Amino acid sequence: MQSCEISSDSTDDPLSSGLRSHRQPRIVVIGAGLAGLAAAKTLLENGLTDVTVLEASDRIGGRVLSVQQGQATLELGATWIHGAHGNPVFHLAEDNGLLEHTTDGERSVGRISLYTKNGVAHYQTNNGKRIPKDLVEEFSDLYNEVYELTQEFFQNGKPVGAESQNSVGIFTRDVVRKKIMLDPDDSETTKRLKLSMLQQYLKVESCESSSPSMDEVSLSEFGEWTEIPGAHHVIPGGFMQVVDLLVQAIPARVIQLNRPIRRVHWNRSVRQEEITDAGDHNGDRRATPLGYPVHVELEDHEFVPADHVIFTASLGVLKKSHESLFSPGLPEDKVLSIEKLGISTTDKIFLEYAEPFWSPECNSIQFVWEDEAQLEQLTYPEELWYRKICSFDVLYPPERYGYMLSGWICGEEALLMESCDNETVAETCTELLRQFTGNPNIPKPRRILRSSWGSNPYIRGSYSFTRVGSSGCDVERLAMPLPYAKSTKAPPLQVLFAGEATHRKYYSTTHGALLSGQREATRLIDMYQDLYNAETTKPNL
Ligand SMILES: Cc1cc2nc3c(=O)[nH]c(=O)nc-3n(C[C@H](O)[C@H](O)[C@H](O)COP(=O)(O)OP(=O)(O)OC[C@H]3O[C@@H](n4cnc5c(N)ncnc54)[C@H](O)[C@@H]3O)c2cc1C
Ligand SMILES: *[C@@H]1O[C@H](CO)[C@@H](O)[C@H](O)[C@H]1NC(C)=O
Ligand SMILES: *[C@@H]1O[C@H](CO)[C@@H](O)[C@H](O)[C@H]1NC(C)=O
Repeated sequence: MQSCEISSDSTDDPLSSGLRSHRQPRIVVIGAGLAGLAAAKTLLENGLTDVTVLEASDRIGGRVLSVQQGQATLELGATWIHGAHGNPVFHLAEDNGLLEHTTDGERSVGRISLYTKNGVAHYQTNNGKRIPKDLVEEFSDLYNEVYELTQEFFQNGKPVGAESQNSVGIFTRDVVRKKIMLDPDDSETTKRLKLSMLQQYLKVESCESSSPSMDEVSLSEFGEWTEIPGAHHVIPGGFMQVVDLLVQAIPARVIQLNRPIRRVHWNRSVRQEEITDAGDHNGDRRATPLGYPVHVELEDHEFVPADHVIFTASLGVLKKSHESLFSPGLPEDKVLSIEKLGISTTDKIFLEYAEPFWSPECNSIQFVWEDEAQLEQLTYPEELWYRKICSFDVLYPPERYGYMLSGWICGEEALLMESCDNETVAETCTELLRQFTGNPNIPKPRRILRSSWGSNPYIRGSYSFTRVGSSGCDVERLAMPLPYAKSTKAPPLQVLFAGEATHRKYYSTTHGALLSGQREATRLIDMYQDLYNAETTKPNL
């Protein structure tokens, strides 16, 4: 791992009041997603008991959201536990009996796998034809081979050449296209089909990385994201069961819902007048004690004093509002990292049917637009947003889900989808399915349910990626606590940062979020442990 230069220009603050006095330090966690809940649980289990979690929305879980629809549990957010041994979310789920016995059949093969235990992916063209299985397989092998090459840039420190070429999308399109064009056995028609499939694969890939397009994903950093080996597990009872396990360990008084925070005042920047004014505003004259280094101001102008704040709202929230969220503003290099790193929206569209119109061995319907074979970029004018829907998965087994399709869309087009009403999206999807399967009799779905992560003001995107021009060092800078400290011996640790986007190897995942929350809690626990040790070993004068 490359080492990062992190600026440390400010001097150490005197130790905050909580450290010197013998009262419990007050710790406020912002956000009740996996990172915030894992942080709170870890703090409480290690004897730091004055913990409050402030959550803006009316529910816990953040980007984990399981919705009961009839007999089915649908995941609007996280679905899979990626990898088994070594994944803390896997162990939590496994140890608590949330997983079904799984077989190797669920193990994924290659980057984009065609086969699952319930069948094979159907690649359909906009002319209503299915692409023959052997052709799909041939292309898939070619794609996965090039995917392996993309990993080498980070892993072997391979230079990418021109910075303008430092893009997974540009590299992949370039190399795969050359290989397709050089194949002497393929007819022009086959070449064209393969070129169109490449575009579809790149759409699937950008939905997986939650980027607007793979052209924006950094090639030199792509391989730093680390895959934990093992199957991808779903939790039959819903991913929310993992959230519930964390919450069980946290007393009810700790978590406060419907408490959006407006601003974090750190570096002892709050003035007595501000707090008093706020009290008057609410008709609440309780004096909020100064003396705390941090004050969290809520949307309703209430001030919550704290020794430490663990901030877990998403990179999307930081991009949009970091200027208003922190006073004083964040250090310049942290702001730069926030701007450089990427986050975009990946949304799901669930369509429920009374009867399946697909064959029993079909695990998904993939949309291949033949007229996109030669396109250099996959961005569309607004009215063509639906071209970004890359596929519909068949949810399996039917005893659990009924007849349910789960569609994927990402980027700006996902935001356009979010802005449409249910009826429009259902009709658009029906037209697409009719066109690509060549079956004009496909009925409208009985029900539609979709996510809206991009327009959710407290989420603003699905998960982060390393955008061209950013690196793992930006992730580290995002995670650096404030104020920056020269010594790590007794840093003031006023504002700490956790959340999916702050994990260098596991960003974009539930385990990354969980581990980041534990990491920041541990930072505080270790500091108090050191302080305690220093006090008890101090010679008596
Ligand atoms: C569609 C989708 C599919 C995914 N699929 C997978 C998957 O299959 N496997 C996987 O491992 N991961 C997946 N993920 C990623 C995973 O869900 C996230 O990485 C993880 O849940 C993020 O947790 P977090 O605690 O970092 O952030 P969040 O869950 O976003 O929690 C942050 C919390 O902060 C709150 N907040 C924001 N602003 C404020 C404010 N001003 N005041 C107070 N509170 C505030 C938010 O409401 C939120 O509850 C998926 C995500 C999405 C969206
Ligand atoms: C924090 O406060 C100190 C003392 O008031 C000041 O010198 C310093 O510039 C402040 N730091 C920031 C980042 O505002
Ligand atoms: C779409 O349907 C869901 C319920 O399935 C509902 O909660 C939502 O408000 C509807 N949205 C629009 C824009 O009609």
